[in-house]
Amino acid sequence: MLKLTPPMGWNSWNTFGESIHEQMIFETADAMVETGLLDCGYDYLVIDDCWSLRVRDEKERLVPDPEKFPHGMKAIADYVHAKGLKFGMYSCAGNLTCAGYPGSFEHEFLDAQTFAGWGVDFLKYDYCYHSPIIPGKYLYRRMGTALENCGRDILLSACSWGANETHEWIKETGASMWRSTGDIADTWESVKHLVECQEKLHPYNGVGCFNDMDMLIVGMYGKGNVGVTGCTDVQYKTHFSIWALLGSPLMIGCDVRSMTPQTKAILTNKELIRINQDGAGRQPVKLSGIWAGPDLVMYSRSLVGGDIAIGLFNMDGNEREARFNLDEIGLPFSTGRTLKMKEVWTGEEYVVKNSTVAKRLQPYDCAVYRAQVVDA
Ligand code: GLA
Repeated sequence: MLKLTPPMGWNSWNTFGESIHEQMIFETADAMVETGLLDCGYDYLVIDDCWSLRVRDEKERLVPDPEKFPHGMKAIADYVHAKGLKFGMYSCAGNLTCAGYPGSFEHEFLDAQTFAGWGVDFLKYDYCYHSPIIPGKYLYRRMGTALENCGRDILLSACSWGANETHEWIKETGASMWRSTGDIADTWESVKHLVECQEKLHPYNGVGCFNDMDMLIVGMYGKGNVGVTGCTDVQYKTHFSIWALLGSPLMIGCDVRSMTPQTKAILTNKELIRINQDGAGRQPVKLSGIWAGPDLVMYSRSLVGGDIAIGLFNMDGNEREARFNLDEIGLPFSTGRTLKMKEVWTGEEYVVKNSTVAKRLQPYDCAVYRAQVVDA
């Protein structure tokens, strides 16, 4: 399956860690439909690590923990599918998963078959406890081949955190998305760090295999498995805006059964989702602007039909001005063209004069525009 736009959905890890169980998954599936997340495009519901028993059965098959999932995984898949969602699960290229449950090493074909039998549509494939001898590209290729031969369309979501130059070999393995960074935590420092890590990897993002900057922390407010200090709503808004503009998969990590109105408003911003899911599949371009640096980050991205997405992100606690020249996005004065800007959070619209875009940004805040090329 060729994935044309970044996958979207929800994953259990950020909030629930090992505290996963059937009832919570059913309620999450309900909530994804009732809150309108599915209508916005969030269609994968993914159970992360810690779902199985610690040993395989006598036929070497993985076994769902009967205390957490008393009706088994097929029942979960059926419930999720009946809601119009797709079902994702998790395994690992090593002997063990990161949390110490059985991994798929040397069981790739059997496990792919098991997942197919349950009705799985998506497999997140981790990299803990992997062989020190067999290079990652072979481990991921094995599972890629196993999935392609399991009789079901199962998306491979690689999770080797960018290790061992993942970007050089991941596309050949059959993966449709690959974790280009280490794990996220619910802190602003973590968001800022992941954005920096991503900088050199944008050329590898594109249709068919998307750079995955990790699950979103929007709406966690310091609670749950990777909740640490938590962030403010302004920081969550900027975090979401960056992930969307840079073309990362958008996998929600908060408890969608109890989202605040602010969390819901952030996660369902239609203009940003439209930019994220843009059909041109272009890579983002970092703008140098006038004062860009780790605390002021600016990106543009070409969209279908000639529109341009532009994001101005204030990454720290001082108010600052973002400023760049249209030259940088291919519209020097000599073209006789300029940009008509529309901000996706406020709806503010204006036409750029003097070839310069300037915007004052509050601490940690951002402005994201969908811009149209017009006569100057
Ligand atoms: C790794 C992954 C995380 C999560 C955990 C589960 O750390 O990067 O996203 O899946 O394992 O143990």
